[in-house]
Amino acid sequence: MELMDIKAIIDKLKSTRDVSDAELEALLAAEDEEALAYLGACAREVREKIYGKAVYIRGLIEFTNYCKNSCYYCGINCKNVKADRYRLSDEGILDCVREGYELGFRTFVLQGGEDPFYTDDKIISLIRGIKTMHPDCAVTLSIGEKSEASYRAYFEAGADRYLLRHETASPLHYAKLHPADLSFENRMNCLKLLRKIGFQVGCGMMVGSPFQTTQNLIADLRFISEFKPDMCGIGPFIPHKDTIFKNEPQGSLDLTLKLLSIIRLLVPDVLLPATTALGTIDPEGREKGLRHGANVVMPNLSPVSVRDKYALYDGKICTGSESAECIKCLSARVACAGYEIVVDRGDHKSA
Ligand code: 5AD
Ligand code: FES
Repeated sequence: MELMDIKAIIDKLKSTRDVSDAELEALLAAEDEEALAYLGACAREVREKIYGKAVYIRGLIEFTNYCKNSCYYCGINCKNVKADRYRLSDEGILDCVREGYELGFRTFVLQGGEDPFYTDDKIISLIRGIKTMHPDCAVTLSIGEKSEASYRAYFEAGADRYLLRHETASPLHYAKLHPADLSFENRMNCLKLLRKIGFQVGCGMMVGSPFQTTQNLIADLRFISEFKPDMCGIGPFIPHKDTIFKNEPQGSLDLTLKLLSIIRLLVPDVLLPATTALGTIDPEGREKGLRHGANVVMPNLSPVSVRDKYALYDGKICTGSESAECIKCLSARVACAGYEIVVDRGDHKSA
């Protein structure tokens, strides 16, 4: 397709958010650098209209790498006997929060594998602990699929947001990435429950995960534009050496950037992180993400001693850096991209 035609699709996407599957397919296939740059510029414009130059930071606390699930792509899946398992103590977690607060974080993300050790009571006490210490901060949970009663109890204890990537909006593709005991229907239902309960909700998927087709990505885009998540986490798939997908190729940088921009245009007010995975496949991946419509970064606040153990994929960046160094490095990177980290909860704004 001619550059002119691609630009016309981008203009239509930006002004009406209404494009056909064939048009999305053409956009996803476009390789022209100028087209990608134009798409990025449109995404930036939309992002700046709503969020200005601000980049929101989330302090990520990876508090357990035990997981009862065996998602085929993930390095901490329960079948990986080589994973060196750890759990942070409550005190250890609150220490990360204390340090993060000093560094300017006003959102903390408790992320972990699905670890039955952390009962609802333990999670609730952590939420309360953080909220008591810092009532001005938002608490985000990213701990997987739970019952409606559990989600409700977390919300009532003060949790504000919940991240649960949908992983893929195509049931057949879902079945190729997960064992039979995990179901597409349950995952989608969890997202609906979280929304109903009142959380700000984040979904998302990997780009270039094994067996992913362009049609699967179009289904993801349709799902995202219909569900209108408050947040959407998009990063490239990166193989992990101790999984059955170890020889699969990693997701592409350009395709990930393109998807970030398209999602920004489809859901203008969405909170869109430039992910660690994006920074892992390219030394300037996160900066590029910010230049293509992303407006959030999620640096790691976990103690350096456990960082390399939370290995969902190989080669993860920042595993050797103290939180303070990381935020300094990241501030410089964000500035380089023309943006500015702010001390703010960074709530979703409605366009
Ligand atoms: N590469 C990239 N992202 C991954 N995730 C899990 N394994 C990988 C991998 N190998 C993502 C999943 C999950 C999130 C926490 O990390 O999308 O939801
Ligand atoms: Fe973590 Fe650069 S952002 S070391």
